[in-house]
Amino acid sequence: MVEVRLEHVTKIFGKTIAVNDLNLVVRDKEFFVLLGPSGCGKSTTLNIIAGLEKPTSGRVYFDDEDVTFLPPEERNIAMVFQSYALYPTMTAYDNIAFPLKIRRLLRDEIHKRVKEVAEMLHIEHLLDKKPHQMSGGERQRVALARAIVRQPRLFLMDEPLSNIDAKLRITARTELIRLQRKLGVTTIYVTHDQTEAFTMGHRIGVMFNGCLLQVGDPLEIFERPHNTVVAGFVGIPPMNFIEGHIAYDERLGKYYFKWNEIILEVGGDITEKIGGHGKTVIAGIRPQNLQVIKSESYSKIGIAFKAKVYTVERLGTESVITVDIDGELLRAVTPSELTLSPDEDVVVKIVNPQKVIFFNKNTGDLIT
Ligand SMILES: Nc1ncnc2c1ncn2[C@@H]1O[C@H](COP(=O)(O)OP(=O)(O)OP(=O)(O)O)[C@@H](O)[C@H]1O
Ligand SMILES: [Mg+2]
Repeated sequence: MVEVRLEHVTKIFGKTIAVNDLNLVVRDKEFFVLLGPSGCGKSTTLNIIAGLEKPTSGRVYFDDEDVTFLPPEERNIAMVFQSYALYPTMTAYDNIAFPLKIRRLLRDEIHKRVKEVAEMLHIEHLLDKKPHQMSGGERQRVALARAIVRQPRLFLMDEPLSNIDAKLRITARTELIRLQRKLGVTTIYVTHDQTEAFTMGHRIGVMFNGCLLQVGDPLEIFERPHNTVVAGFVGIPPMNFIEGHIAYDERLGKYYFKWNEIILEVGGDITEKIGGHGKTVIAGIRPQNLQVIKSESYSKIGIAFKAKVYTVERLGTESVITVDIDGELLRAVTPSELTLSPDEDVVVKIVNPQKVIFFNKNTGDLIT
């Protein structure tokens, strides 16, 4: 359909730099998710791609065409927003047909296309209803149908699922993924919800303060976050950060990361980059990589340390256990069958030491 390219795109509103020198290529047919906290510049970026905003500087290309100053209606794109903005006096049928009528398509052709998308989105039974007679999820599907019916070359979606309930959102997510694959239309999807981003995106771009910090597939973003900001933002619960130092063992000729009872071997290549013995680094450990074991059932295998249970939060089949080690709090995820109480002495084990990553203390950048 189309490849979207942003080159050095900056948008300044008064004193706010909403988008800061953003460079990005969204591939043809890709489902690309822009993820970031509220106010980081996601919608502004999407609006610039749509042509609803002009960048202060920089360029936007659709394939090789420079569209930076092309009005939205000439871009052949469809947008779906958080608020669906259906026409309240029209039936679902007329709402969906509306963009085609504007284009002066023939009646039969319009009918054929509306039926087709209605079938695809399972909303045939809603076609005679007006928006106030439909639920939020139904309205959302009608809005989607109206966007699709035009067969645009690019979908731009700004948190389109945030107004519907959690259960329906899961179904809608699945439907959207399926639909996008079927239609093969390049899609840029904006959200602050990381579950949405990780389940839907072929690739994810993480934005912070107007800057695009990292672009990658979900696994890459999760396992090799480029810096502590991305690392701390993705993953539920958030990653644990431990500030420790590098120690060199002359006898063994190896470098270790040391903090409290934690001693982890680190590769020589990492230590070269951070200056070796005595240097301070930050270790990043996912809560899923920490296993809490009752003190009495612990037998010494692998890397483990003593801790005290601080809080227990049950989330159905899993629990988040916060443990206290000398005043430092770390989170671990355990199966809920393990019953633990606050102040209980436990042992915490690093399940997979290879998955611990290290960051430069001064810059926050991943050390690779
Ligand atoms: N028209 C505008 N005038 C002035 N400032 C604006 C305007 N639009 C956006 N901003 C500012 O630009 C920054 C980015 O806003 P944007 O709407 O792009 O964020 P967002 O990532 O979409 O946030 P959210 O998740 O809350 O929708 C914010 O600080 C916002 O206040
Ligand atoms: Mg927004």
